[in-house]
Amino acid sequence: MAMMHLAQFLVHGPTYHSLAMWRHPKTAAAGYDWTRPQLYQHIAQVCERGMFDMVFFADLNYISDTYRGSLDPALRYAAQAPEHDPIPLLSYMAAVTRHIGVASTFSVSQHHPFYAARLWATLDHLTDGRAGWNVVTSINHNQDANFGVDRPPTDVRYDRAHEFIEVCRKLWASWDEDAVVMDRAGAQFANSAKVRRIEHKGEFFRSRGPLNVVRSPQDGPVILQAGTSPKGVDFAARYADAIFAIQPRPQDAKRYFDTIKGRMAELGRPPEHCRILFGMQPIIGSTEAEAREKQEEHNALVPLEGGMAILSAHADYDLSKIDLEAPMADRTEPELQRLKSRFRKPSGESLTLREVAQRHGQSVGLPQFVGTPASIADQMEAFLREAGGDGFMLSPIYCPGAIEEFVDLVVPELQRRGLVRTEYRGRTMRDLLRQDD
Ligand SMILES: Cc1cc2nc3c(=O)[nH]c(=O)nc-3n(C[C@H](O)[C@H](O)[C@H](O)COP(=O)(O)O)c2cc1C
Repeated sequence: MAMMHLAQFLVHGPTYHSLAMWRHPKTAAAGYDWTRPQLYQHIAQVCERGMFDMVFFADLNYISDTYRGSLDPALRYAAQAPEHDPIPLLSYMAAVTRHIGVASTFSVSQHHPFYAARLWATLDHLTDGRAGWNVVTSINHNQDANFGVDRPPTDVRYDRAHEFIEVCRKLWASWDEDAVVMDRAGAQFANSAKVRRIEHKGEFFRSRGPLNVVRSPQDGPVILQAGTSPKGVDFAARYADAIFAIQPRPQDAKRYFDTIKGRMAELGRPPEHCRILFGMQPIIGSTEAEAREKQEEHNALVPLEGGMAILSAHADYDLSKIDLEAPMADRTEPELQRLKSRFRKPSGESLTLREVAQRHGQSVGLPQFVGTPASIADQMEAFLREAGGDGFMLSPIYCPGAIEEFVDLVVPELQRRGLVRTEYRGRTMRDLLRQDD
């Protein structure tokens, strides 16, 4: 089996995928303060010790009132709210590490490509070629409302995103690599013959260029993506260096994997140019029984109403309209179709709304891999054998503590099996993602 690529999922807030995290006894005992940059510096160093490809921030620009039309459930249960801006943390984390990629989500729906191209080229310089941008079109209407823009339909959002990236790429390429000559004696900083206007006039954007940032180490950041709609898949297959996917059932994960790699082949991209990382939540114990106890303790801390609030926000649909005991697999509401792969048990049987919401509060649908370090390594291997996939995006159940346990206990086991690198090679984050052994 090829080497696994590992990414650590983070949020600049109290809640990641687990609604129990901020009040878990281990989080409380560790004196967790999610507003302090030192916490994220520590996490970046731990993940670098674990030879991860990257640490990665999700980002939402809203506090959702989709569930029951009220802000109360989101605020009361910290249902992915509040979320501070993660971008400033990337520089903090890069400053105390040398190899690991530092990545964040940044939506294309509320900004102009010139601003994004400048921001990400600057971050690529500051991190010395370790910046990664998760390109999203914004998950729901709350975000667009905060920026005072109307939410276009999915297809239009992706058409706009395509053009957005094309403009960024032109701007990143508007400086040749050797444009800066720095001839102090001859009083010439840059060679203007090697810096060009882009003169972009498209359906959604106009930009004259050139960028006022010199060519960055990776020619712009690594591009990450997480789309599942047909246009989202096409966007990812065309541009992404890595994709995050939430597919709890290996058979659905395999279908997703084959679709993306198939589309990449049609576009003439080699399969290793876009890694597919499946989300999972490790729950580690020194015995199987201890791990199960930890899982029960964690899952019991998740309030159903909080799960309903996150699920409603992600679906952009108020789920209080549906009976809690209703089976979800065959629902026909258009808003629910995108999340359907999370509505079935491994056996294929439908989950009820209560079960889906509870799971969403536990892990946003990420499968929980529970057991001893060796058993978790077995489960990771088995998942990738069945699903395909290039690695995992990990999400903790408490913090600090759970990320450290994975790195100290599971990574050595994976290294013994030759499945995780034992030293970093290459310079940039793209170099790490492209490696196979
Ligand atoms: C693992 C994962 C992480 C995501 N993170 C974010 C995020 O941080 N911010 C956001 O606005 N959307 C996020 N999304 C939503 C997707 O970017 C995308 O907007 C959504 O899946 C709708 O696109 P689609 O219709 O192509 O699936 C995430 C999706 C996945 C699967």
